[in-house]
Amino acid sequence: MSSSTEVEQKDDHFEELFQRLQPKKPVAGSLLANYQGVWFGADLLQATLTFQKHFKAIDSDIILATMPKSGTTWLKALTFSIVNRNNHSVDESPLLFSNPHHLVPFLEMYLYKDGNIPDIDAMPCPRILATHLPYQFLPSTILDCSNCRIIYLCRNPLDVFTSILHFVRQNRSASRPLESVDVPFETFCQGIYPYGPFWDHCLGYWNASLKDPQKVLFLKYEDFKKNITCSVKKIADFLGHPFSAEEEEAGLVEEIAMLCSFENLQNLNCNKEGEIQTVFRAKHSSFFRKGEVGDWVNLVPPSMANRLEKLMQEKFGESGLTLDIHGNSVGRR
Ligand code: A3P
Repeated sequence: MSSSTEVEQKDDHFEELFQRLQPKKPVAGSLLANYQGVWFGADLLQATLTFQKHFKAIDSDIILATMPKSGTTWLKALTFSIVNRNNHSVDESPLLFSNPHHLVPFLEMYLYKDGNIPDIDAMPCPRILATHLPYQFLPSTILDCSNCRIIYLCRNPLDVFTSILHFVRQNRSASRPLESVDVPFETFCQGIYPYGPFWDHCLGYWNASLKDPQKVLFLKYEDFKKNITCSVKKIADFLGHPFSAEEEEAGLVEEIAMLCSFENLQNLNCNKEGEIQTVFRAKHSSFFRKGEVGDWVNLVPPSMANRLEKLMQEKFGESGLTLDIHGNSVGRR
């Protein structure tokens, strides 16, 4: 793909736009600007604009959408395995040799970063592509493409917040000091971090899934943890490629669930070693930390947790969207 990738230069117009947005530095990270209600760093915003301008969806495209740290890696592994189950057996899966982020690339954060205009027509169909962008930022070519499907995975905000903090700490350069929980917690509540606010992101896809359930499937990380085989079948049904009775009898659903389980993926060399360079650099291993529901109890004090839970109830209001913050796990360790 890279051989025919074109590159669009970051022009003065973009720099002007970013400055006009009056970016600010909420934490010890880089400058963030609010563009149409969503927070972006400069590189990410440029990549988003390039993606919006140049991406052309086709009917068979499958778009995986998530807020960062909501289980994207898991969703990528599962969808890749479900879609490609006739191309290779589970014990020959490319997931055994490649980190899921290389098999299912991010759109704005990877393919369209640094002004790249990739030749994605060269990708085999169906193309499985991922994004962290909110629903309203998806180019109309995705939204209007009649058969192109969107799968959204959501996770409770307390675990998302906790996972972000650990991820940043695992990938930070040694020279940057560790922050306390208080400052990032405040900015998370205010929504001032890349792709934030959390609430608008979930609600955008939630409402779209209610309006057009054939096009947008809304899933929850906590449901994956409760019953992964049910979720695997749901994804296959939604994609119009349900498991046959023979496949179910042969145990293929369980095999895919096992292949993509946290324990299995975390222990593979391809996920223990190496890194990925999107708009930032991240170790493959940092995408596999604990994989639990309710691990926030080990980081977030009860007063903050209550505040975030109340905020979630307030923001989700009468929408019908609820997220489980406890799962089966209990107690501080
Ligand atoms: P924790 O930090 O809570 O452990 P993302 O993939 O969107 O970056 O999200 C990463 C989170 O998903 C991390 O959560 C990670 O451990 C968890 N995760 C990754 N792969 C998983 C899997 N196969 N099963 C369950 N959780 C997984």
